[in-house]
Amino acid sequence: SSNESAAGIAHVYRGTFVHATYHTAVEILEDGLLGVDTEGKIAFIGSGKEVDRLSQKWGFEAFAVTQLGQHEFFMPGMVDTHIHASQYSYAGTALDMPLLQWLNMYTFPVEACYKDLEFARNVYTHVVKRTLRNGTTTACYFATIHTDASLLLGQIANDFGQRALVGKVINSYPLVRPVVTPRFAPSCSATLLGHLGEIAQNNDLHIQSHISETKEEVSLVKELFPDYDSYTDVYHRHNLLTDKTVMAHGCHLTDGELKLFRETGASIAHCPNSNISLCSGMLDVRRVLNHKVKLGLGTDVAGGYSPSMLDAVRRTLDTSKALTIQDTQYHTLTFEEVFRLATLGGSQALSLDENTGNFEVGKDFDALRVNTDAAGGPIDLINHGEGPKVYVAGKRVVPFVERP
Ligand code: GUN
Ligand code: FE
Repeated sequence: SSNESAAGIAHVYRGTFVHATYHTAVEILEDGLLGVDTEGKIAFIGSGKEVDRLSQKWGFEAFAVTQLGQHEFFMPGMVDTHIHASQYSYAGTALDMPLLQWLNMYTFPVEACYKDLEFARNVYTHVVKRTLRNGTTTACYFATIHTDASLLLGQIANDFGQRALVGKVINSYPLVRPVVTPRFAPSCSATLLGHLGEIAQNNDLHIQSHISETKEEVSLVKELFPDYDSYTDVYHRHNLLTDKTVMAHGCHLTDGELKLFRETGASIAHCPNSNISLCSGMLDVRRVLNHKVKLGLGTDVAGGYSPSMLDAVRRTLDTSKALTIQDTQYHTLTFEEVFRLATLGGSQALSLDENTGNFEVGKDFDALRVNTDAAGGPIDLINHGEGPKVYVAGKRVVPFVERP
């Protein structure tokens, strides 16, 4: 089975590998050996003790192996399943009102600025660099209604080497794909939703939107779409719930709605920082997982104030513990489960797990090389330390290698 890539090994790493699999939330491979081919895909993963056999089989020199330090490990890059690139400039401010008021007061006026391409270039460059530095190798972005600025976001992500889904609809680059993006039901007519569903279906595109983030929003949708069974039904009847759909929040979904998610293969982006910051609700992740609905984590900048996926991991655990405080019988999420949600779970939620999410042979090598002994100490590896070395499709992208 080795013949076709035998000449194609570009890098081999030896050391500790930590990742999630479909069966195990966290699998730790000590003294592992991982080969990346010239296309950035994982060619093999095995034991360091087999280095002689593997080097013969794959045709690399044993001395060309990069040995990780004692305090280092590789983990998969993290997947932000929901982030508004256009809201990055005011993350950490303006979280003093409920969602619908906040959108009118802050979000819509700022997003109008993206008709100015230089304004867009400045913010979009910052958000891509910041999220990459924080270990986000895949991001599912909301842009704005402006086509030119959205195209620019796709180009910037691709140039810095970040894998991205970008909506408004954009051209595709090697690392970037378009995602059909109705903002949410209250800002769309049924006709518009119908057309977007058709575009997505005809072109086999990803879809993203918001759903049931706040109770006020759910009531508003009931008023605006009185002939539908539920908020979920509004999207479903316009062909917007597919196995390539990711819906942000879903704090107030009913069992029946979750069933519809399960049946269609649509997923949920859990955005705990945003849900608490805007007092939107506390998503019961355990309940979603029990319904066998796919779920990833999102930062939801600027509803969430942090662009870091490590923060999303912590907030997910906090919300789960808050639910446990309310009900001591609650089956709290473990940190292992949340690690999986931030990596493989996110890739599954975005239907990208054929290519990303963990260290399986044949997937792209999207990875973080973390040094727990780095300046800043072992706690805030990503936010305050020197940060991980970040690889997307086998190529080092942070510290930055700006592509032509
Ligand atoms: N619902 C519709 N638009 C938005 C947005 O920009 N942020 C959040 N958090 N929810 C939304
Ligand atoms: Fe959002």
